[in-house]
Amino acid sequence: MRCTRCRGQEACLEIRRHNAAYCEDCFLGFFRDQVTRAIEHDKMFRRDEPVLVAVSGGKDSLALWDVLLEMGYDTAGFYIGLSIPGYSEPSREKCEVFAEARGARLITVDLEEEYGLGIADTAQRTARAPCSACGLSKRYLFNKVAMDNGYRVIATGHNLDDEAATLFGNVLRWQTGYLGRQAPVLPEEEGLVKKVKPLYRLAERETAAYAVLRGIDYIVDECPMSRGAKSLLYKDLLNQLEAASPGSKQSFLLGFLDKARPLFHEQEEVELHPCERCGQPTTTPICAFCRLRDEVSRPRRPRGGRRRGGRSGPRESAAAAASGGPPPAGLVIPLTSVES
Ligand code: AMP
Ligand code: FES
Ligand code: ZN
Repeated sequence: MRCTRCRGQEACLEIRRHNAAYCEDCFLGFFRDQVTRAIEHDKMFRRDEPVLVAVSGGKDSLALWDVLLEMGYDTAGFYIGLSIPGYSEPSREKCEVFAEARGARLITVDLEEEYGLGIADTAQRTARAPCSACGLSKRYLFNKVAMDNGYRVIATGHNLDDEAATLFGNVLRWQTGYLGRQAPVLPEEEGLVKKVKPLYRLAERETAAYAVLRGIDYIVDECPMSRGAKSLLYKDLLNQLEAASPGSKQSFLLGFLDKARPLFHEQEEVELHPCERCGQPTTTPICAFCRLRDEVSRPRRPRGGRRRGGRSGPRESAAAAASGGPPPAGLVIPLTSVES
């Protein structure tokens, strides 16, 4: 099949939802166009605005950092060491090699070393699902490290598949608070930096294709702790739908953002104030991250004891539903979504 854009070269990737098939060069052009469209249409950041890119070592976030560097944006990477055996070390290495090859700045924070919160250990000590402690810690550090280093925007590598799966999970449970906050851009607020997702118009196989074509060395394995997460089931279901009806995922997500999200948007206003301990914004006197640190430093509970219960507000319940365990009240940063 010939490339539907240049009509000269042989196509290497078919994109059925766009009725298109691209050769290598045209695919890379298409990828950049989609990122540019997201950045400009959604007013994510300006050309002269420094952006902190959260990188996990996986294809999406490294593809994002690569495309932003290629397009000449002023970026630094930010990697969080999570202390997940067999996964964290190789992921860190991928980020470091990537940054070094491009002469780009990479900020690294080790959750265990700096906060005593390695994820595998924290999950054990608190009987909390790993993804819940992990999601909470990432959100906290994204904001804190961006602020501490003078970045007013943080970008993550969430793609169309991630966002559609999150939306699916939130709709299944009618998590109206989350639905109101699920967006490719969460604006800057008092104490909170702007959060953006420039890959939200691109499917997972497209970010993988981009990473391969650009020669990016990324960690292929998924996090071993996310096995069995609901988001993977939702992705699978949406892929089945997409195979039978190309474009379903995109119209589900983009249709929601365009037509439905505004209806939820004004429903839930939460008041944030600084955590009494660390100063990061929270809805409770002590933020969830500081309380997680307290929880981890307490003596271990005997085996077979009750899982941590208590009341959880609407901001917490979707994450809990997805990860299988209840995260604490007073999450630091307004959530947009079910965490994977
Ligand atoms: P995930 O929640 O693992 O699907 O990751 C979503 C996004 O969060 C990725 O695309 C990255 O931008 C960011 N991210 C995930 N893990 C890390 C990490 N260890 N350090 C920094 N950013 C991360
Ligand atoms: Fe957070 Fe796997 S990356 S638990
Ligand atoms: Zn705090």
